[in-house]
Amino acid sequence: MTEIRRGTLQEQTFYEQVGGEETFRRLVHRFYEGVATDPLLRPMYPEEDLGPAEDRLTLFLMQYWGGPSTYNETRGHPRLRMRHVPYTVDRAAHDAWLKHMRDALDELGLSEEHEQTLWKYLTYAAATLINAPD
Ligand code: HEM
Repeated sequence: MTEIRRGTLQEQTFYEQVGGEETFRRLVHRFYEGVATDPLLRPMYPEEDLGPAEDRLTLFLMQYWGGPSTYNETRGHPRLRMRHVPYTVDRAAHDAWLKHMRDALDELGLSEEHEQTLWKYLTYAAATLINAPD
């Protein structure tokens, strides 16, 4: 709680606390640099250009953490499990995805509390998206 408007303390969203759009863009950009070189993950992405996928994940995370709802406006309801059905998300894909996210998160330099909050969510979300046996 940092700002005072009309005499009341206003809570900042997590999105604002970690630095807004720039932080999420940096995180996901770094993540996709990892995906681009990953022999298991790279072939899973249907588009030659990873830019649009980078944009979708950035907008989704921004929205999830209290930023603008551009994701919903352009893509509709996230329905993440449904959207991952076309891809084989097994334990190996899950681990590779999280490894690149971990590397990207480490480079952001967030406070320990913010970093742990984000990591807990990402690991939880990734586990829910596994849709194929080992
Ligand atoms: C567990 C490992 C995961 C794998 C292997 C994986 C793989 C993929 C692939 C191949 C795509 C298609 C690229 C695209 O069209 O954007 C995609 C899309 C997407 N993924 Fe994942 N993903 C994983 C986990 C996650 C997690 C944990 C989240 C959220 C926290 C997430 C959020 C998204 C979003 C928002 C999209 C774009 C959906 C759309 O609007 O079409 N994914 N993912």
